[in-house]
Amino acid sequence: MSRIRILPEAVANKIAAGEVVERPASVVKELLENAIDAGAKTIRVEVEVGGKRMIRVIDDGHGMMHDDALLAFERHATSKLRSADDLLSIATLGFRGEALPTIAAVSRLLLETRDEAEAEGTRIEFAGGKLVNVKPAGLPAGTTVSVADIFYCVPARRKFLKSDTTELGHIASLVTHYALANPAKQFILTTPTQEIINCPPAEKLADRVYQRGFRLPSARPSPNRSSSRAKKKLR
Ligand SMILES: Nc1ncnc2c1ncn2[C@@H]1O[C@H](COP(=O)(O)OP(=O)(O)OP(=O)(O)O)[C@@H](O)[C@H]1O
Ligand SMILES: [Mg+2]
Repeated sequence: MSRIRILPEAVANKIAAGEVVERPASVVKELLENAIDAGAKTIRVEVEVGGKRMIRVIDDGHGMMHDDALLAFERHATSKLRSADDLLSIATLGFRGEALPTIAAVSRLLLETRDEAEAEGTRIEFAGGKLVNVKPAGLPAGTTVSVADIFYCVPARRKFLKSDTTELGHIASLVTHYALANPAKQFILTTPTQEIINCPPAEKLADRVYQRGFRLPSARPSPNRSSSRAKKKLR
């Protein structure tokens, strides 16, 4: 009997998901990049329990038409690349057409989106990679992706997630990096009890760095603390 067999698509998708989604911050990264590629001016990230219970990214970008919203969950479905030649002149952050289907394979995902040109929006729900519900909905233009219970159907991966504080730290530092790279956009990061980042559009990178509501993660202890520690050592 042959030893080799082709894996069922659902299993292959879960394995592929491990390459795109390692932890909640990887989901935030993919959804932030999609929002930036969609030309969003304001991007709001809401997380609960370090992103393990919920990650919601709300953007005011160009949104998706009904048919595109469904197509976006097919593997290798992208609006950002047409031919191999385009690979040499990519101007977007994403291009593989992998992120949404892989995130949907390992979570309960709700996509709510409306293209400005359409009167009605679309709400699509996935659970563990299976399409659960599609319906029209009255929505503002733009896109909201809610990713709940990451890895609920891949317990082996869920076990490797770190504490809520550590996972939230990864998310906060990721949002910080994207906010620095895109000073003209507003970035907001909240938990149910805290607004961690809220930086309105800035003209220059320097303005962003000094904005209230925006703190660069500190790489080392502050000079005062380190000098007092040094003094203690000398005593
Ligand atoms: N927030 C969004 N606003 C508008 N369109 C979106 C948004 N997110 C996804 N899309 C559409 O869905 C498509 C699929 O998204 P997905 O992230 O899976 O792939 P991608 O961004 O093309 O490539 P990659 O896998 O490298 O991220 C995108 O090409 C884009 O057309
Ligand atoms: Mg993408």
